[in-house]
Amino acid sequence: MRLSRRPFNFHVASYNVVLIDHHLILVHHRKPKTSEARLKIQPFATEQYFSLYEFNAPYPLSCSDCETMTVSELLEFSQTTIEEFGSLRLGYTESQGDAGLRESICELYFNISPEDVVVLTSPIEGIYLTMRTLLAPGDEVISLTPAYDALNNVVEHVCGNVVPWHIQPTDQGWKLDFDQFERLVSDKTRLAVVNFPHNPTGYAPSNKDFERMLQILDRHHVWLFCDEMYRGLELNPMYKIPSAIESYSRCLVLSGLSKTYGLPGLRMGWLVIPDHEIRDQLINWKHYTSICPAAPSEKLAIAALKVHETLRDRNVELVKHNLDIADQFFKRWPDHFVWRRPEAGSIGLVEMKLDAFGSSNVNDYCHRLVKETGVLLLPGDGLGCSQPFVRFGFGRKNFAECLSAYETYLQS
Ligand SMILES: Cc1ncc(COP(=O)(O)O)c(C=O)c1O
Repeated sequence: MRLSRRPFNFHVASYNVVLIDHHLILVHHRKPKTSEARLKIQPFATEQYFSLYEFNAPYPLSCSDCETMTVSELLEFSQTTIEEFGSLRLGYTESQGDAGLRESICELYFNISPEDVVVLTSPIEGIYLTMRTLLAPGDEVISLTPAYDALNNVVEHVCGNVVPWHIQPTDQGWKLDFDQFERLVSDKTRLAVVNFPHNPTGYAPSNKDFERMLQILDRHHVWLFCDEMYRGLELNPMYKIPSAIESYSRCLVLSGLSKTYGLPGLRMGWLVIPDHEIRDQLINWKHYTSICPAAPSEKLAIAALKVHETLRDRNVELVKHNLDIADQFFKRWPDHFVWRRPEAGSIGLVEMKLDAFGSSNVNDYCHRLVKETGVLLLPGDGLGCSQPFVRFGFGRKNFAECLSAYETYLQS
């Protein structure tokens, strides 16, 4: 049955409440199109929070990236000589990205050619460029919630019409309702924004559900933005899904070297965009943000991609090892946490039973925790969680040490 929106559409604060097939759904309502409203964007809660503590907290327990390495280690690993790196000239680079690098990126996908790839100056840049290119004020966008802040906030900033598609916590883990997705998509939908493997829950869809989502989008001619920053970190072969770009052409895929490959300091990301008109428009936007990628990052990215399987596999092993430690920890604290083990990616979203902590607010708890103990957890509210959740990260070598510091605090 199609939407019955009109009779049940009313306002609560900055939301519209609409009734869709007996479910009440909150939709961010359109801001008045004054020049002041158009300039505003939500605070980037996750990055603002990390900028307070990330570089001074001794026990970071919620990072999304996997273990990193030095430049020397990367060069040695990829058998690139220091002379080769040192001979790089520091002139401007090609706007779309170095041709050799784009060729290496293609090897991560089936049926993609170097001209489909746009190299970015950071993965996050790809979110901004995509939304600027695809959306206009008033467009309707379905977006996975909770999500990495930028995925919802930039959409809301540009078009003002975000229809959330909620990932639900259940007794069996995180679930996404694809029947609900079908009900949310309408002929007004311009774009769907998803992120698999998912930050912050560690959810990944089955092949069957993923295919179904693409078929629904295709039927309604809806564009897809698929954030695949954590691709390759599937912990169970069952959750290995193809890149969206391999099955759906009305699509932009974002990926990069920050998470799975542990190289966030390179600021290396890319978009795959088979549609040449959209790609050209996006490159035009890129001339206003970064013009072209940084030459040293491109050179080191080529080195990293030579050994991408090794870099990925060792991080998968590290995440699996840390998740086993986490399983034991959460078994010891059943009155404090509800543990839903991630299926993929390097992070998980953990429910806090606030009564056990003597706290009424996760945000206050996390600020107090890091100030008193140096243990850094990320409160879920900035990611769009309305319930008390915190994000844990499992991709770092010092995970056991950080968790032990936290456990000492819990015991005190
Ligand atoms: C889902 C997702 N997309 C994009 C990004 C941006 O990546 P980067 O910080 O490397 O630009 C992040 C970073 O946390 C992320 O989690």
